[in-house]
Amino acid sequence: MPPRPGDILELRIDTLAYGGQGVARDHDFVVFVRGAAPGDVVRAQITRRRQRHAEARLLEIIAPSPARVPAPCAHAETCGGCEWQTLGYATQLEFKQRQVVESLEHIGGLRDFALEPIAGMDDPWRYRNKMEFSFAEDDGRLVLGLHRRGSWRDVVETSDCLLASARMNGARQAVVDACRALGLRAYDRGAGRHETPRGLLRHLVVRETTCGDLAVHLFVATRFPEEAALAERVVAACGATAFAVTVNASRADAAVGDGPHMIAGEPYLTERLAGVELAVPFTAFLQTNAAMCEVLYATALRFAAADPRRDAYDLYCGIGSLSLPLARGAAQVHAIEIQEQAIAAARANARRNAIANVDFRAGDVRRLLKEALAAPDSAPPAVVVADPPRAGMARKALQRAAALHAERFVYVSCNPTTLAGNGAELRDLGYRLACVAPVDMFPQTHHVETVALFLREE
Ligand SMILES: C[S@@+](CC[C@H](N)C(=O)[O-])C[C@H]1O[C@@H](n2cnc3c(N)ncnc32)[C@H](O)[C@@H]1O
Repeated sequence: MPPRPGDILELRIDTLAYGGQGVARDHDFVVFVRGAAPGDVVRAQITRRRQRHAEARLLEIIAPSPARVPAPCAHAETCGGCEWQTLGYATQLEFKQRQVVESLEHIGGLRDFALEPIAGMDDPWRYRNKMEFSFAEDDGRLVLGLHRRGSWRDVVETSDCLLASARMNGARQAVVDACRALGLRAYDRGAGRHETPRGLLRHLVVRETTCGDLAVHLFVATRFPEEAALAERVVAACGATAFAVTVNASRADAAVGDGPHMIAGEPYLTERLAGVELAVPFTAFLQTNAAMCEVLYATALRFAAADPRRDAYDLYCGIGSLSLPLARGAAQVHAIEIQEQAIAAARANARRNAIANVDFRAGDVRRLLKEALAAPDSAPPAVVVADPPRAGMARKALQRAAALHAERFVYVSCNPTTLAGNGAELRDLGYRLACVAPVDMFPQTHHVETVALFLREE
C-alpha cells in the first residue's frame, strides 16, 4: 500500500534528486524528503501523495549520514539559503555531477558522451558577487537579511552570510544601521489584496567586483527625502563606490522597478573576465561567481574552438562577456540578447576593449535568427554558443539555431533538466552530444552549471 498523507515513516535516504531533496523508497514507492542527506535514516511525515511518488516533511534524523558535516554558518537553522552546507564539499560535487549525467540520460535519453570531472572551488565560500536582501519588521524593529526557510514574509538578520564577502556583509550592516538611525520603515504590502501598502524599504541588492567596486542598490516603494543622508552614511560606513535607489511601486515582491536613480557614483560596475574589461550596468545579468565564471568561460571557449576565418554566434549574450573573448578567435561574432540596455553595454564594452568584430543585436533570439536565416548567401558559422535562462531554449529558437548549420554547438546551461530536454531536441536536429563539463558555480546549494558540446553529424 502506498503511504498516505499524515503517515509517519522511517526511511533510509538513498540519493538526492535534482532540486536537492533526499530520495528514499518505501516498498518501491519513491518518497522525497527535503533537508535529508544520502545515507541518513530519518523519521518523516507524508505531506502529499502523487501517483508515483510522495513528499514528506523531515521530523527527525535517527542516524545521520557519514557524509554530513556540521553547518559552518551561524544562520543555518533559520535561513533558507545554502541547503547543502551540511554535506561535505566532495559529496556535493559528486552528487552534482551525478545529477547532470542522470538528467541527460533519463530525461534526454543522451548517452555515450565524454564527461569531464566537475570543476569545483578550492575554497567554496564567500564566492557570490551579488546578494539580494529583503527588509521586514520584527515587533517594530527593522530587519534586513535573507528569507526565513520556507517563508516569503519573515526575514532572518544574516549578519554574516558565508556566501558573501566580509565587505558585502558590511554593506548590509551599514544600510540597516543607517536606515534605523534615520527612522525609515520596512514596506508592508498588507495581507489582503485590497489593503493599502505601508512603509518604504523593500529590497537591497549589493554587488561587488574583483576590480574593487561595491554597489549598494536600494529598492523602495517611493522616492524619499532622506536619500542623500542615507547614501552619505552608507558610503562612509562600508566604502561603497556607488549608491542607487530604484522605485518598485508594484505589489510584486521582487527587486525590480523604475531606476536606478544614482545618489552617489556611476550606474555601472567594472569587472574583468576572460581577459576583457567590462562595464556592468547595475541591473544587467552577470554570472554570480567571478572565479568559477573564468572556468566556465574557458571551458566554453575551448569547446567552441573558434576559427579566425569563420563566423560564430553567441545567443543570449548579456553584456557581451563571452562574445568578446569569443571574437578574439573568430572572424565575426553575431551576438543576440533581448535586453536593450545589456546590448548598449555590450557595444560599449566592445569599444572599451577595441574589439570590432562583434555585431550585437537587441531582440528575441527566435525572431533575430529567423532574419539571419533569411539573409541570402550567408555561410554557416563554425560554432553557435547558447547560454539561455533556466527555462532553456524555446523549440523554435533551438530549431533555428540548429538550422544555422554550425559544426559545433556549445550549450551553457544553469539547469541540467532543460539542457537534457534541449539536448534531445538537438539530437533529433542532427547533433551528437560529444562532451559534458559540469562547473560548480554555486557551492553549498543544489545548483550546477554545465557546458555541453554538440557536434553536427554528417
Ligand atoms: C543566463 S544569461 C547569460 C548571459 C551571458 N551569456 C553571460 O554569460 O553573462 C541569459 C540571458 O538571456 C537573455 N534572454 C532571455 N530570453 C531571451 C530571448 N528570448 N532572446 C534573447 N535573449 C534572451 C537574458 O536577458 C540574459 O541576459
